[in-house]
Amino acid sequence: MLHNDHLEQWDRENFFHPSTHLADFARGDLPHRVVTGGAGSHIHTRDGKQLLDAFAGLYCVNVGYGRSEIAQAIADQARELAYYHAYVGHGTEASITLSKMILDRAPDHMSKVYFGLSGSDANETNIKLIWYYNNILGRPEKKKIISRWRGYHGSGLMTGSLTGLDLFHAKFDLPLAQVVHTEAPYYFRRADLAQSEEAFVAHCVAELEALIAREGADTIAAFIGEPVLGTGGIVPPPTGYWEAIQAVLDKHDILLVADEVVTGFGRLGTMFGSDHYGMRPDLITIAKGLTSAYAPLSGSIVSDKMWKVLEQGTDENGPIGHGWTYSAHPIGAAAGVANLKLLDDLNLVENAASVGGHLNAAMRDALSDHANVGDVRGEGMLCAVEFVADKADRTFFDASEKIGPQIAAKLLEQDDIIARAMPQGDILGFAPPFSLSRDEADRIVSATARAVQAVLG
Ligand SMILES: Cc1ncc(COP(=O)(O)O)c(C=O)c1O
Repeated sequence: MLHNDHLEQWDRENFFHPSTHLADFARGDLPHRVVTGGAGSHIHTRDGKQLLDAFAGLYCVNVGYGRSEIAQAIADQARELAYYHAYVGHGTEASITLSKMILDRAPDHMSKVYFGLSGSDANETNIKLIWYYNNILGRPEKKKIISRWRGYHGSGLMTGSLTGLDLFHAKFDLPLAQVVHTEAPYYFRRADLAQSEEAFVAHCVAELEALIAREGADTIAAFIGEPVLGTGGIVPPPTGYWEAIQAVLDKHDILLVADEVVTGFGRLGTMFGSDHYGMRPDLITIAKGLTSAYAPLSGSIVSDKMWKVLEQGTDENGPIGHGWTYSAHPIGAAAGVANLKLLDDLNLVENAASVGGHLNAAMRDALSDHANVGDVRGEGMLCAVEFVADKADRTFFDASEKIGPQIAAKLLEQDDIIARAMPQGDILGFAPPFSLSRDEADRIVSATARAVQAVLG
């Protein structure tokens, strides 16, 4: 690799980085970081560091870095046919094969997959399909979408509206009017500390019922949720939550979108979170783990029930008016085929379950007793530690103290380990590649304990 002495200057002068304090970065108050390579659980940086990436990029490099099988599949596809579109019935061997592989792994009642490029655009597709569906069924008023506070569904106009995090709304004039939010299934942050988990689920259901009654069931088209809340804090649902929510949705004829951008293809130790929690979605959003981020690719998996209506719609109105130049891009599809094959060949979903279980248990053992650790939680290869100022009455630190970011920075500085300070609350998140070894999991835990000690004593 050529050494370019101007790289930092070019970066600060030209590059608009997403989710970044723009002014700090331009001024030089935020570090400029250049990633040059990766292998297994580690990334390599231009200043010669090898960092253990305990967040797998943005919980997406599920098979780990440097997989030559996927790189080869991408190169072969690029040489043979870098691009052709998927409009008017066109496909490639890779895109057709991948659609079959996805449907073979998805819940039985799913029927077809539409390919996009990002989790955000897949959720935009979902909302359009839901509106189309209700128009074809002659229910033009049934259009609102219910999302949860702390849900994350992307950062477009509609998907940023679905996202239930303040940072993604403030100053952007979001959420749009068609989106309404309901209670997050976040037991640790329940308003009434005396409430049992069962009573809290009943409270979430009552909140949802009240919202539906207020808006009118005939105005509500769908409910969208991640099986496990991700960016909102890595929060597995309380026992019985999805079963209870599904019953309300069925009663009011409200569609369910399972946003499995993080959980799809194994992160919970099962292929899909919908199966893990017994959800019966009408649409499933997939992205990240579909290609392990070796190429951009996402998808909307459509159920039999919705598919029949979409077919009826095109019989009545002609071809569906939805599609992008890069839908089902052959290079992304080739990466997806190679990635799903690798997951199977190396039993990586089982590894996510077993090493993820070990990581969660070890983190609980190491940190639960700390005076400022309020909660250690997780599922499969997802784990989070939430910090509190006072454990007895569960008071939180003031956001200005930046406890979560401080601990993440300390972990990086002391032990070359990347965890993610989640954006709302003092929550340290872990979502390593599924190929993580037990030794690496132990390294993450002991280094986290040291970082917590260094910041909080
Ligand atoms: C659950 C979920 N849905 C959607 C998205 C948006 O995906 P993308 O960033 O690829 O647009 C994300 C991204 O983190 C996500 O976690």
